Amino acid sequence: MNYKKKILVTGGAGFIGSHVVRLFVNKYPEYQIVNLDVLTYAGNLANLRDIENKQNYRFVKMDIVDAESITKLFQAEKFTDVIHLAAESHVDRSISNPTEFVMTNVIGTVNLLNAAKLIWKGEMEKHRFYHVSTDEVYGSLGEIGMFTENTAYDPHSPYSASKASSDHFVRAYGDTYGLKTVISNCSNNYGSYQFPEKLLPLFINNIQHKKALPVYGKGENVRDWLWVEDHARAIDVLFHQAASGSTYNIGGHNEWTNIALIKLLCKIMDKKLGRSEGESEKLISYVTDRAGHDLRYAIDSTKLQNDLGWTPSLQFEEGLEKTVTWYLENKEWLEHVTSGDYQNYYEKQYEKR
Ligand code: NAD
Ligand code: TYD
Repeated sequence: MNYKKKILVTGGAGFIGSHVVRLFVNKYPEYQIVNLDVLTYAGNLANLRDIENKQNYRFVKMDIVDAESITKLFQAEKFTDVIHLAAESHVDRSISNPTEFVMTNVIGTVNLLNAAKLIWKGEMEKHRFYHVSTDEVYGSLGEIGMFTENTAYDPHSPYSASKASSDHFVRAYGDTYGLKTVISNCSNNYGSYQFPEKLLPLFINNIQHKKALPVYGKGENVRDWLWVEDHARAIDVLFHQAASGSTYNIGGHNEWTNIALIKLLCKIMDKKLGRSEGESEKLISYVTDRAGHDLRYAIDSTKLQNDLGWTPSLQFEEGLEKTVTWYLENKEWLEHVTSGDYQNYYEKQYEKR
C-alpha cells in the first residue's frame, strides 16, 4: 500500500506514546506508523496488543542513543515525519542516575534530529519533527501565576534539565538548518498504561495491596493533571495544524495539591473495593521530601484553545474514576509490570526515605 505519510513515533511502547500510536493507527489508516522503542523498564508492548496486528503499524526495537543505527534506519525507511516521545521520564530516577537522562533525552534527541536533517535535506518544508516535552522545563511556580509559552526555562531536576536541553536543540535545528519543528509542553498526565512508579498508578497499586502510601514532604506540592487521551488528541491536532517553529502548552486547568488528590483517590478506591470510608487514608505515610521538589506547576493552554480549538474532554473526577477502574480491571498488566526490575527499584527508592 502507498501510504500518505510514514510517521516515526519514538517511545510508542511507553505510557503516552502507546496512546499516541493507538490514536494515529486507528484514526489514520492512510498513514503508516512505525513505533521505535528500545523497551526499557517503562516500555511494554502489551500496551499496544489491541493494534499490533493492524496493517499500518510496525514496531522497531532500537536505542535512540545508537546514532549509527538511527541514521541507517532513517536512510532505509525515509520517514516523512517524526513524533518524538522516547525519553527517560521519572524525576526520582533522574536524581539517582542523571547521566542516563542526558544520554537518552539529550543525545538521543540530537541523534534523531541529525538523521532527520540528513534525509530531509533540500525538502525540509515537506516534513515535520514534533517534539513532545513537559511543563517541568519552566521550573516551579509560587502560589500564583501560570506557565505560558513565553515563560523562561528554569529546570531544577536532572530530568527537567535534560528535557529543557532537548527542547533547545530542537529549536536550534529549526533556526540553523531549517528543520520544520513543533514542540509541546504538557502537564502531568494520568490514565491507563502508566508505569506504577508515578504517583497515581503507584498509589492505586499500593491501596489495592494495603501498602503504605509514601507522600513526599507535606504533600503540599501542586500538579496540574490531564487525561492522557486528551494529551494524545492535542498532539494529533498540533501535528496536523500547528505552524512550523511553534510551541504550545497543553494542560487541563486542573490543579491539585498531592495530598488532596491522594485523599480523593483513597475515597474512590474505598468505594470501589467495598472498604469502609477512611480505610485507605490510613495508609498515608509522610516520607522524606524529594530533593529539589518543585512546589507548583500550572499550565496556561489558552494559546492551544484559541488557535486550534482544543479543550480537555474529561472532567477530572470522571477521568480519575475511569483510571482507577482500568487498573482494577487490568490486574494482570499491573502484576506483570510490577515484577522483576521494578521490585528492585521500589525497594531501593523507598528504603532510604
Ligand atoms: P514513559 O517512561 O512511560 O515511556 C518512555 C518510552 O520511551 C518507553 O517506552 C521507553 O522504553 C522508551 N525509551 C526510553 N529510552 C529509550 C531509548 N534510549 N531509545 C528508544 N526508546 C527509549 O514516558 P511517558 O510518561 O510516556 O512520557 C513520554 C514523553 O512525554 C516523554 O518525552 C516525557 O518527557 C513527556 N511528558 C510526559 C508527561 C507525563 O506526565 N508522563 C508529561 C509531559 C510530557
Ligand atoms: P510524579 O508522578 O513522579 O510526577 P512529577 O514529579 O513528574 O510531577 O509525582 C507527582 C507528584 O507526586 C510530585 O509532586 C511528587 C509526588 N510523589 C509523592 O508524593 N510520592 C511518590 O511516591 C511519588 C512517586 C510522587
